[in-house]
Amino acid sequence: MRIVRFLTSGESHGKALAGIIDGIPSGFPLAADDIDHDLKRRQGGYGRGGRMKIEADHGEIISGVRWGKTLGSPIAVQIVNKDWDNWQQGMSEYETDALSIAPVLKPRPGHADLAGAVKYNTKDIRNILERSSARETAMRVALGAIAKKILSEFGIVIGSYVCQIGSARYNKPVPSAGKDLFKLFKDAEQSPVRCPDKAASKKMVAAIDKAIRGNYSLGGLFTVFATGIPMGLGSHVQWDRKLDGQLAQAIVSIQAIKGVEIGSGFTMASQPGSEVMDEIYYRKSSDPEIMPFFRKTNHAGGIEGGMTNGMPVILTAAMKPIPTLRKPLVSVDIVTKRPLAAAYERSDVCAVPAAAVVGEAMVALTIVNAFFEKFGGDSREEMVRNHKSYRAYIRRY
Ligand SMILES: Cc1cc2nc3c(=O)[nH]c(=O)nc-3n(C[C@H](O)[C@H](O)[C@H](O)COP(=O)(O)O)c2cc1C
Repeated sequence: MRIVRFLTSGESHGKALAGIIDGIPSGFPLAADDIDHDLKRRQGGYGRGGRMKIEADHGEIISGVRWGKTLGSPIAVQIVNKDWDNWQQGMSEYETDALSIAPVLKPRPGHADLAGAVKYNTKDIRNILERSSARETAMRVALGAIAKKILSEFGIVIGSYVCQIGSARYNKPVPSAGKDLFKLFKDAEQSPVRCPDKAASKKMVAAIDKAIRGNYSLGGLFTVFATGIPMGLGSHVQWDRKLDGQLAQAIVSIQAIKGVEIGSGFTMASQPGSEVMDEIYYRKSSDPEIMPFFRKTNHAGGIEGGMTNGMPVILTAAMKPIPTLRKPLVSVDIVTKRPLAAAYERSDVCAVPAAAVVGEAMVALTIVNAFFEKFGGDSREEMVRNHKSYRAYIRRY
């Protein structure tokens, strides 16, 4: 069920990106700084292209917040594109500016260019690439930061780290405890490639340097986690209510993400069942923060039967290499139909560290919806009551 809905709009070189998130109750503290912190994290990472040097993204809150608190009405956010100064005619809304820049005729393999131009019946691929560009992910990150801020009020923390760039790998077991994840996250934030391991970080930076010299690009893997998640978000009763399915869709919808693994998903496929099911334990504690059912391992990534089981939610995403290449790929001119080299437009060489931040946003937006489905209310106070009483119920169960 969709309680929290969101939409983004905006072209890569247009005036601004715009976003609306609807369904956030009243009374939650929210400020532009909450958004800007993550926007900055998305802009970083070793291997980014020139565009990120031009933009210094700021999420301006346009509606839905008064005196530092959410109103319960839709929250609209705008991120102005600094690069717009260079594109005022090229991306103008006015017919009088038509043909002020040459049309893009060379579709890039690995992009929406060709299928988009045919589908939307245009002979200027710019009409497609401006929207299919990953610039759009800045707004996902802004709206995701709002979701994160709300979830943090309930002790939920969402973070990420990079585990592979090209063939440079950081091999880690799936952590079972929140504190292990916080440590990985903290270390990742210090690394230019957002990898928690220093030796692996160095190898990843070297792999990107080699790719820059060789005029090719790299993809990789990143892990996103959410801790403090109560048992019972999502549901087993209907396919589209399963939280693992919703998370997979949210993650694969990110530009260039081609695979997703929940917990130890792909490793589990080759292991005996006796090795990879997370056995169930029970403890009684007078501490109201400690939930009675727990696991010592987390191969399931915190989700069983489409529902959270009280362990941290963990997933890993696979990103393909950046498809725009300086050493151009073979393509076909959409007008003359002659073979030619694909267009090159200023581009990242590797964007896995940034994609991990986008992954956090999509996980936050998916979990906030499941959270509101379970504890929904019109105000912060109502949700706090519902959340508290559910936790007390689990302790009594
Ligand atoms: C954060 C981020 C930055 C990206 N930067 C670029 C880039 O600079 N150049 C490029 O060609 N693709 C870039 N991509 C990937 C493309 O947007 C993506 O491959 C393309 O839109 C086609 O979509 P698909 O790979 O999902 O099929 C980026 C993706 C992400 C998530």
